[in-house]
Order: sequence, then structure tokens, then C-alpha cells
Amino acid sequence: MASTIPDTMKAVVISSPGAPFTLKQVPVPQPTHGEILIKVLACGVCLSDYFVQQGAFGTFPRIPGHEIIGVVIKTSEAIQGIGGLGHLAIQYARRMGFRTVALSTSDSKKDSAMQLGATDYVDTSKQDAAAALQDMGGASLIVVTAPNAQVMSGLVGGLGRLGKLLILAPVGDVPFDTAKLLNIGGSVHVWPAGHVLDSEEAIDFAVRQGVECLVERFPLEKAEDAIKAVTSNVVRFRSVLVMV
Ligand SMILES: NC(=O)c1ccc[n+]([C@@H]2O[C@H](COP(=O)([O-])OP(=O)(O)OC[C@H]3O[C@@H](n4cnc5c(N)ncnc54)[C@H](OP(=O)(O)O)[C@@H]3O)[C@@H](O)[C@H]2O)c1
Repeated sequence: MASTIPDTMKAVVISSPGAPFTLKQVPVPQPTHGEILIKVLACGVCLSDYFVQQGAFGTFPRIPGHEIIGVVIKTSEAIQGIGGLGHLAIQYARRMGFRTVALSTSDSKKDSAMQLGATDYVDTSKQDAAAALQDMGGASLIVVTAPNAQVMSGLVGGLGRLGKLLILAPVGDVPFDTAKLLNIGGSVHVWPAGHVLDSEEAIDFAVRQGVECLVERFPLEKAEDAIKAVTSNVVRFRSVLVMV
């Protein structure tokens, strides 16, 4: 689950009826609505594969193999709020193998979010976030860094089955539709920074996977400017005070 998904993969391809099984490098498919991506570990060879090769059914070119066993490596994860935490969350989610959806209140962070590893971008000023996520099959995890109770409330509608809304921003009371959560076995989780061992693991992952913190440096005497850059949402992506 922790490895980066490559762009291409090995596959045995039958190019036309009666053609041999030929090993090729092919693009890794992107899961669409209701689909998941599985890394195949082994595959039984069935007599039906022979009939497929002979053109008894199906179309060509064709990658045979229906008795596979493997691990699910891709469902979808969404990040709401592309700021200091959010720009890191995008990188972590993508490097963990998730289809990673950036949800942002404007289109101004689209290029950055895609460069950081987002596979999809939703400008929530133009598109309903929950509906957009449902169009993609529903999110398995939504990480909310946006400090907005109304936004959090609405995101429950974007969860898929057994999906989890993970809230990082403290905003006080938030109403949640428990009927929607019950229907999908969904959950809401609020999480602090975590234990020191969590930090060690997070840093270790960041070093191994190349997660980068993008910062704007401010001298200590410009601390007021540094915080204004955060509250006005212009910093990309973390204000940092340097002692020079
Ligand atoms: N749980 C923890 O351990 C922990 C740790 C650190 C921080 N926090 C909290 O997590 C939150 C995010 O921290 P941060 O440092 O990432 O903040 P940040 O850099 O300001 O990023 C927050 C992002 O949320 C979006 N946003 C801001 N105001 C919004 C609003 N009214 N409605 C909807 N979206 C809004 C913006 O993203 P877009 O422009 O993309 O919409 C903004 O860039 C804060 O509340 C902070 O106190 C929690």
C-alpha cells in the first residue's frame, strides 16, 4: 500500500484470435466509478483462457486472466483545504497509492495541487464537492483541513461505503447527517498531531517517498506578515520564520 503506483505494468496480451500470449508493457488502468485497482500477485490459468485466445468470446487485443489474487492498491482519498497541512496530505495520499482528489475553494491552487500529486481537482466554488466525489465512486477517506463547519458537514455526502471523514481543523460544533453515515457505515474521526512515534513514522515516510514541505520564508521581525499570509490564504504553502 505504501509504494508509488507506476505508469505502466507487465501484462500478457493476445493481439488477435489465435495469436500467442505476448508479454508487453501496458499503461496501468485508472479505476472509474465503483472500480478499484488491484495489484495482481498470482493468476490461475484456466482452460477458458485458451478459448479466449482462440477467439471464442470477447474482443481483441485482450489481457486474459480471471482467476487473479492480489491486493487492492487504489481507492480514492480526498483532501479539503490545500494549505499548510493540505499540501502535505496530497503528497502522502498519492504516495500511499490513493486516487487523490484535491478539494479547494477556488481554482487558484489547481496547478500546484496537480504538481504535488493530486489526480483530480474540484473547485468547490463551481462544483458541489460531495456530488463530485460520488461521481468518482465515493471517497474512502476525506481529510478535512478547512476550518469550516458547513464544509465538513456537507462532505459526509462524498463518502463511499465504510468511508471516513478525518477532521484536522477544530471548529466547535458540527452537525452530521447520521442517516447518511448509517447507510454507508461511515465514520467521523478527529485527530490531533499524534504521538512522537507517529511523527517519526511520518518523517521517515516523507524522506523515503520524497514528500516536500513548500515554504515561504519570513525573517523573525516580519512575523506579522507571515501570519497575514496565512489568514489571507496567499501563502504557498507554509509560512516559516527564519532567524537571520
Ligand atoms: N489536528 C492537528 O493536529 C492540527 C495540526 C495543525 C493544524 N491544525 C488545524 O488544521 C487547520 C488547517 O491548518 P493549516 O495550517 O493547514 O491552515 P492553512 O494553511 O490556513 O490551510 C487551510 C486551508 O483551508 C481552506 N480554507 C480556509 N478557510 C476556509 C473557509 N472559511 N472555508 C473553506 N475552506 C477554507 C484554504 O484552502 P483552499 O484555498 O484550498 O480552499 C486554506 O488554505 C487549522 O484549523 C489548524 O488549526 C490541526
